[in-house]
Amino acid sequence: MLRDSEILTKLMTRAPAHSLEQALYTDPGVFDLDMRQIFYRNWLFAIPACEIPKTGNYVTHKVGPYNVIIVRGGDGEVRAFHNACRHRGSVVCNARKGTAPKLVCPYHQWTYELDGSLLWARDMGAEFDASRHGLKPVHCRNLAGLIYICLADEAPDFDIFADVARPYLAPHDLNDAKIAFESSIVENGNWKLVWENNRECYHCGGNHPALCRTFPEDPSITGIEGGETPPFMQAHMDRCEAAGFRSAFHLSASGQYRLARVPLNEGAESYTMDGKIAATKKLGQIPFNDAGSLLKFHYPTTWNHFLSDHSIVFRVTPLTPTTTEVTTKWLVHKDAVEGVDYDLDRLTEVWIATNDEDRRVVEDNQQGINSPAYVPGPYSARQESGVIQFTDWYARTLVQALTGKTLIAAE
Ligand code: FES
Ligand SMILES: [Fe+2]
Repeated sequence: MLRDSEILTKLMTRAPAHSLEQALYTDPGVFDLDMRQIFYRNWLFAIPACEIPKTGNYVTHKVGPYNVIIVRGGDGEVRAFHNACRHRGSVVCNARKGTAPKLVCPYHQWTYELDGSLLWARDMGAEFDASRHGLKPVHCRNLAGLIYICLADEAPDFDIFADVARPYLAPHDLNDAKIAFESSIVENGNWKLVWENNRECYHCGGNHPALCRTFPEDPSITGIEGGETPPFMQAHMDRCEAAGFRSAFHLSASGQYRLARVPLNEGAESYTMDGKIAATKKLGQIPFNDAGSLLKFHYPTTWNHFLSDHSIVFRVTPLTPTTTEVTTKWLVHKDAVEGVDYDLDRLTEVWIATNDEDRRVVEDNQQGINSPAYVPGPYSARQESGVIQFTDWYARTLVQALTGKTLIAAE
């Protein structure tokens, strides 16, 4: 198990534009550092707000040893709390999701309001101060229908990101959505391999027959080219912007997130086998079907596709050095009726297949890296600029955390 100082040396001496050293994908010390410095410090996408539309709806979400309750209060606000009772620490909510008028600890029935305050605790004596024993809050923000949490005591700024992202997301009306389907798979690969695979489409032609019907393999779409947006993409963004919805390519100065509304293949409208929209009662206000996909990634937990008819949100949660949970939720308009306004198989089949294909390539990648014979290999500058961008962001983030030197812009 590597120490922080050894990991720092590896990060500072790594070959640029090459895959990382074996230990960075396998070592428990690296995993621990990734969790401490990245996952326990940054804003993490947790759930779409539409998953808990009513008072008392809650979801629990585990990040490493942390267990978080995300709950809708009586005032309509979404809040997050550590899922640990202030009596002797028991988990308060055991279910993955549910509905409760109050949060009641199953051990001795301490009872909390939905805003986390302690309402009732039996026989604690006259001196007991309930107001000092509310559930510990977790930073929680609702960004246009996407709930983000931050486990750090002091959260980094959220508003710069939120102010940039909100106009892109607003026309998709995510607060008016419902989850049509969700899947959670465990990939036997390090979380960074999941991201590296996501950040390129070099692998798409050889692995994603269904997705390639509609999603363009052009590396300028998934990648981060050196500033120039190709003319066909610029024309698409200009058309969408002229229609009144934010679409222009935006990569944050820190490299942590990117937004861009990109065209799909000629004639394609949505991620279906025939390329036509999957939901006739559309989610959002995008006025034409062929608006392509608003691509959003935000390290370290989420990439998303927002289409003219539906949206898909993905969440990445590391479990161990070589296992990662990938959760996918397909969102449609809350009033859309299955079998009438959308067919569930048609809506989900492309990305269910794509996720499974990605799981296979990530697992094969991890297996090969586990061999003592593995050495870092070169990324394709044309095809894998997004992977270079991700691994650079990752290394800079850790080096900055370990040295205290400012390497990364605040935004
Ligand atoms: S641990 Fe929760 S009521 Fe005792
Ligand atoms: Fe893929």
